[in-house]
Amino acid sequence: MSGTLPRVIPVDLGDRSYEIYIGFSLIEEIGTLVSDLIQQPKVYVVTDANVGQRHLASVRQNLESSGIEVIPYSVPAGEKSKSFESLKGLLNHLLEHQAERSDLLIALGGGMVGDLTGLAASLLKRGMNFLQIPTTLLAQVDSSVGGKTAINSDHGKNLIGTFYQPQRVLIDTNFLTTLPRREILAGYAEIVKYGLISDGKFFSWLDSHASHIISLEDHKILVEAITKSCEVKARIIQSDEREGNLRQILNFGHTFGHALEAENQYRDSLLHGEAVGCGMGLATKYSERLGMINEETVNIVINSLNSAGLTTNINTLVGGPYLADSLVRAMGQDKKSKGGRTPLILLNSIGTACIRTDIDMSDVQSFLNDEVKN
Ligand code: GLY
Repeated sequence: MSGTLPRVIPVDLGDRSYEIYIGFSLIEEIGTLVSDLIQQPKVYVVTDANVGQRHLASVRQNLESSGIEVIPYSVPAGEKSKSFESLKGLLNHLLEHQAERSDLLIALGGGMVGDLTGLAASLLKRGMNFLQIPTTLLAQVDSSVGGKTAINSDHGKNLIGTFYQPQRVLIDTNFLTTLPRREILAGYAEIVKYGLISDGKFFSWLDSHASHIISLEDHKILVEAITKSCEVKARIIQSDEREGNLRQILNFGHTFGHALEAENQYRDSLLHGEAVGCGMGLATKYSERLGMINEETVNIVINSLNSAGLTTNINTLVGGPYLADSLVRAMGQDKKSKGGRTPLILLNSIGTACIRTDIDMSDVQSFLNDEVKN
């Protein structure tokens, strides 16, 4: 498995362009892979307690053996670290260690670490160099790519943030081998999303390779799934970096999913990818209710998600019970809501999605009522 050349995906954003490298044990080459991004032989690495314990030593050793000094910083694991307090702690640490704009700040971890570190990178001295090393499947196929950064506030999740692209993303599939299967499955939900919203052939391919991807059994297939996901995301970001329109389709399943997470008070008992998996099931069924797709298409999608191991039944999803009226209220708090209207990403077919801004939320409530009763 090791020794194969990494896949390289360009993200073409003019002067904010960068490349995503994907490979097994890529971290062994990290000294070479960052050498053109640094002016001094020194990098700042941010991680969390769990990832740090597992992976910081090897990242550090590989950098140090290339003569690059590592200044590490760790935050507690979990969503709670996406806070003003953590951001302040990280910024103060960088200032205490005389970080400069031209220094490289590295996020080593899952979505929380990437979002917090990216925000700090965008703020420190109005922006320092930034590298993403995502260690979860979800971060590898979604949050590390595209430049969204964020912390949470008392008013909701990800409400404070910036668009700030990294200079490079290094996806090392070796990190995935230490993840619980549940985390892999949560990341797989985001992979399926790319097939559903933008590539029907990819969806069918995933349907027949799901077990190999989730078991991490076949490295070639795993890399193919990650590569294709990053390619779809890169293509969408290239045409709409700041989510003016098309990028919104990346939120397929997320409006329902975020409401499920909010109802579960963002506890770790329901993973983001699990909520998105169920949310995609709900969005697919709601697309049928509006006459956009037929029952056969719904069954194909639901069977595919379920046979991979994702729950699409709101009544058996962890963290419940979920109630229709409070879910609809939570959907109204969505960041993308405008003038009291909540846009929903729905399916026109397997492989094409659209943004619907004409949704009657009382109809969504009655749909969810039926789902809860089933
Ligand atoms: N995760 C959705 C986006 O990056 O736009």
